[in-house]
Amino acid sequence: MSKTIIVSNRLPVKITEENGTLSFIPSEGGLATGLGSIYKEGNNIWLGWPGINIEDLAKQNEIREQLKAMNLIPIFLDEEEIKRYYEGFSNEVLWPIFHYLSTYANYDYQNWLSYVQVNQKFADAILSSLEPGDTVWVHDYQLLLVPGLVRLKQPEVSIAFFNHIPFPSQELFRLIPWRKELLLGMLGADLIGFHTFDDVRHFLSAATHLLSIHTDANRLRVENRIVLAEPFPMGMDSDKFSKLGANPEVIEHINSFRQNFEGKRIILSIDRLDYSKGIIQRLNAFELLLEKNSEYIEKIILYMIVVPSRDTVPQYKLLKDEIDRLVGNINARFRTFEWHPIAYFYHGYPIEIISALYNIADVCLVTPMRDGMNLVSKEYVASRNDNTGVLILSELAGASKELNDALLVNPNNISEIRKALITALNMPEEEMRERMKAMRNVVFKFNIKHWVKIFMNRLEDVKRIQRNSMAN
Ligand code: F6P
Repeated sequence: MSKTIIVSNRLPVKITEENGTLSFIPSEGGLATGLGSIYKEGNNIWLGWPGINIEDLAKQNEIREQLKAMNLIPIFLDEEEIKRYYEGFSNEVLWPIFHYLSTYANYDYQNWLSYVQVNQKFADAILSSLEPGDTVWVHDYQLLLVPGLVRLKQPEVSIAFFNHIPFPSQELFRLIPWRKELLLGMLGADLIGFHTFDDVRHFLSAATHLLSIHTDANRLRVENRIVLAEPFPMGMDSDKFSKLGANPEVIEHINSFRQNFEGKRIILSIDRLDYSKGIIQRLNAFELLLEKNSEYIEKIILYMIVVPSRDTVPQYKLLKDEIDRLVGNINARFRTFEWHPIAYFYHGYPIEIISALYNIADVCLVTPMRDGMNLVSKEYVASRNDNTGVLILSELAGASKELNDALLVNPNNISEIRKALITALNMPEEEMRERMKAMRNVVFKFNIKHWVKIFMNRLEDVKRIQRNSMAN
């Protein structure tokens, strides 16, 4: 029976070690949570980094065995590879450029070489698991070269690639010294998926301008092969978040949060630590609200969870310090003896707590400066079984294209975010329910299963189109 080989930088479980004991915990981030529901099907496998640096071969084998039972295959990275491929190239060149922050990019040739070498390592691991009829599905910006490297050895294999972050305008993309190699790597796939139509447009424009590739609508001719680039807005496991509302543990958390916050309205903010998430601007908007609208003093709480991420990368360290300072200032400036405006947590939390927070939050404030999709906004909507709650969403998140019943804001416009907060806190119940219902229809209809299905069906279509074009 043929299988799908899912490949991403991170496995959907992360391994940690304390006093020689290994524990396996779910990874953060949209990709791991999004595809977590499907990789266990049939004899599919998932290849990726287990998030821990283990040099001891015996221990590596022990981990390999344990993961095998979960259909997972680990690709171990050493310290140098983590520093150069993951932190250095993926997160200091591709991440900032793809999120339009070119001044944060640090072009280092040694980091590029490491990116090439680690992408080859992933490609080799795929090739050794590959059997006739298998499909390879590569994910995200850390592995842009992998489709091309696999294609080189297996010209006929079905390869799909999905980019989970925005694809920038070609004017930005062309700044990368190795832009042609990156594009050629992606073009090794048969189907290249993005979250939005704008990402597709930017990719097609980069391929035409930088590689002079012939495109016809969303079809690219790469030597004698046809490649398709298309938008597939990613869904999430909406049923899972909806059902969590009835989980006894979640209900217990809901009750205790309600008791603690009695009489207060909750504004929820949940992100990984990242400068693309607009956390500073969000805090500025909240401060402006307290400054201009003293009627909200002691009436609202910003419940802000920042999940630690990439904190060894310099820009992330700076951001963490800036958030700490700003939260400290706002709390010191506005707090009273009975109340402090921001409950700030620098920590990851289990899904039961996150679900309880989604359930008690009157407003969910999601204002990234750029985001491929943003699954937090969809998780909030899926959790609101009673159709209440207001979502404030950045127009620069991919999710804004689908969730247009949210209050859409420009994340740089502090005063607009303040006004949206006032609108949200005073929204008539009927309007709130209407908006939430419309958004729930979207997240339940276009869920993760639907996303995987249409993506895989489209991959079959591409293969058919390729066969027909060879026959003609
Ligand atoms: O969804 C985008 C993404 O970059 C994933 O590729 C990644 O797994 C996740 O966010 C979290 O980032 P990291 O793996 O660097 O912690």
